[in-house]
Amino acid sequence: MEELKELETFLKIASVDDGLKKIAESFPGKVKFSTSLGQEDQVLTDMIARHSIDISIFTLDTGRLFNETYELIEKTEARYKKKIEIYFPEAGAVEEMVNEKGINLFYNSVEERKLCCHIRKVVPLNRALTGASVWITGLRSSQTSIRQDLPVIEWLPEKNLFKYNPLLNWSYDDVMDYIHTNSVPYNPLHDKGFVSIGCLPCTRAIEPGEDPRAGRWWWETSQKECGLHVNK
Ligand code: ADX
Ligand code: SF4
Repeated sequence: MEELKELETFLKIASVDDGLKKIAESFPGKVKFSTSLGQEDQVLTDMIARHSIDISIFTLDTGRLFNETYELIEKTEARYKKKIEIYFPEAGAVEEMVNEKGINLFYNSVEERKLCCHIRKVVPLNRALTGASVWITGLRSSQTSIRQDLPVIEWLPEKNLFKYNPLLNWSYDDVMDYIHTNSVPYNPLHDKGFVSIGCLPCTRAIEPGEDPRAGRWWWETSQKECGLHVNK
């Protein structure tokens, strides 16, 4: 795919803000960034807002997020004067799931946890991306072994769009340096040992030296992925 090759060549050497600008100019009105309000995503929100780049921002509210995350949504919108669109899971599907399997079904089995992630995150993600040509994420390659091999940009045939990971080669320290240098608002849970933050019942703080994602679905030994980025 010629277009993909050209973009990849540019994005590999461009700064992140130049990359974001290039993508927004190449696909006007068709670029969407998914934020979980985590530290990587706050860096991207800051860059998009700081340079007034034409990229819309959305988040998936699973209904089980931390209160700190909800507060950060409001704080971020106020700081950047930019709307974060909120997508919810389909009420009927959640009702059916929790009435059949229990309100905290995710602790029952990997299968039930993945079902919950599917209904609360994956289905709403696909709805949020309707009509988009590019999906931007805050994925970094050093986060997990699966993420190590991600390209900066790829074509997702099943979603019919490009997925662009501008911070792919940033380290955790690069992210935190940017946050502190630019006074970017961030989740106060990060200062309490929470590195990767998802839903409240499925996230815990980690001890120094632990894998950064050890706090996600900590009771499981399987791959720490929820289906947003990996279909496993
Ligand atoms: S997850 O797959 O384990 O949940 P992770 O928390 O590492 O993902 O976040 C990686 C990227 O996925 C984020 O940078 C963001 O683009 C997207 N993402 C994760 N959770 C959400 C969410 N609740 N809403 C929107 N985007 C999300
Ligand atoms: Fe459900 Fe936990 Fe997945 Fe959130 S992270 S959608 S609560 S299983």
